[in-house]
Formats: sequence, structure tokens, C-alpha cells
Amino acid sequence: MEVRLQKVIAGAGLASRRKAEELIAAGRVTVNGKVVTELGTKVDPARDHIKVDGKHLSSAQPYVYLLLNKPKNVMSTLNDPGGRPTVKDYLRGISVRVFPVGRLDFDSEGLMLLTNHGDLAQTLLHPRYHVPKTYLIKVKQVVTDDHIRQLEQGVQLEDGMTSPAVVKKVKKAKLNSWLEITIREGRQHQVKRMMEAVGHPVLKLTRIKMGPLLLGDLAPGDFRYLTDREANALRELAEHKLAAEEGPEKKVARPKKKISRAGWARSKKAKVV
Ligand code: URA
Repeated sequence: MEVRLQKVIAGAGLASRRKAEELIAAGRVTVNGKVVTELGTKVDPARDHIKVDGKHLSSAQPYVYLLLNKPKNVMSTLNDPGGRPTVKDYLRGISVRVFPVGRLDFDSEGLMLLTNHGDLAQTLLHPRYHVPKTYLIKVKQVVTDDHIRQLEQGVQLEDGMTSPAVVKKVKKAKLNSWLEITIREGRQHQVKRMMEAVGHPVLKLTRIKMGPLLLGDLAPGDFRYLTDREANALRELAEHKLAAEEGPEKKVARPKKKISRAGWARSKKAKVV
């Protein structure tokens, strides 16, 4: 059965529909040995030999997206020259080479996304795209409404003013408070520095949300694959942000078809390194 080339590439889990269109337009796709740049080209995946960047579509590494609850006292990197535990130690059974999207401090815990989808990771991490991240924090002393207002307006740090945060009181005890704080920047130790600046040092920090992803009740040290819905939401978020950046004249319709998890098969070929 003949289908549009970009749909076949997207269906293989190699790229979103929009990215597949870009690959075709850039001359990086061949069908039966010939470069195809026409977006409407129809192919029969069962009969035609489709290659992207010289690699046969069927041998392309599918995208994998994992959500890990990083425990406290674990590095959020894959290696640590100091020999401390890293997130890699928690990815048992995963033989695909995935990378952490962003960092959490050694003593922080919570939601970490790991993927082999480099372009998506770059977009989510780029400060320009402001993906919101929410942290549940326990801080010293009872936080006043004044301090919350300060955090919501932005606080002065040594590397400049922070952009406004969204802050919600969760519960308070006699000697400390629990807050949910959402920020759209990703400066180093940002939440700790913001809370320090208003006189409430952080005692405990857990990332509970990143863009459309929720930590939920995943236990520290456990990981799971993103659901199809989550992976598509992430892709759409990244594509939406890129399209907004490029301006309306370059905007390409976002993929309507949801890509199934089977498309992102958990390949056992590569190693987590
Ligand atoms: N902000 C911090 O201060 N630490 C983290 O680990 C994440 C955000």
C-alpha cells in the first residue's frame, strides 16, 4: 500500500512528521537509491528501499523515552569521575544509549527524563524555550505571603533577576514549610538560590513535573517508559516551541497521527553508556 514518505519515516519512530518533512526537503532521504525532495511522494514501505542519511529505515534506532525518579545522593549524569552512584546505575535492563535531559543536584530527587532523541532534548533544555518545571520543596521556617510575592515577582541572584515563579503553599509545620514552585529557567541550583535569597534555605527538593510529564507515584530509583500520550505531548511541545521560534511563515502543521510505542521499540542492540 502506498503512503506518504514523511508518514513512513515518522511511523518508524525516526522523526516526527514535521522533522521527517525537513529531512526530505534537505535531500537526506533516498527511495530506491534516488534522492527524493518532493514532500507528497508516495512509497510502498513493503516494496521500496527507503534510507535516511544512508541508513535503511528498518535499521534506524527508534527513539526511547524514560522517566526516572532519581534518588537523593545520586549524580544526574551517566558517569562520575569521583565514583559516586549515577542515574546509569538505575537503568538496569535498558540497553539503549539514552542521555539525561537536564540536571538535578546530587542531593535532589525526582523526575528525570532520559532519551536518545537528541533534538528533542536540546529543545527542552534550551533556556529560550522555557519549559516549566515544578519542584516540591521543604524549606526552613514558615514562609510568609510577602516572601511568596517576592518569588512570584522575581528575586535578585548574583547572575541576575529570576523570571517570575509560580508558588503554591502545600503545608506548613511549626519550623518549616512545604511549597510547590514552578520555574521556567534552568540556572544552576536555581530553586535553592531563590529560596536562600528570601531567607528560607531548602531542606529537601523533589522535581515533580516537567512540561507535560508528572512524577506521580514512581518510587525513588524506579523508572518507566513514557506512555504514547506523554511522548507525543513532549514531541508536540518541542515542535510547537520550534515553530513559534521560526515564525508563522515557516510553521509546518504538527503531526496529527499519534506514533505508537511499538514504533519506539525498546531495541536491545545498543548499550547504555
Ligand atoms: N533547583 C535546584 O536548586 N536544585 C535542583 O536540583 C533543581 C532545581
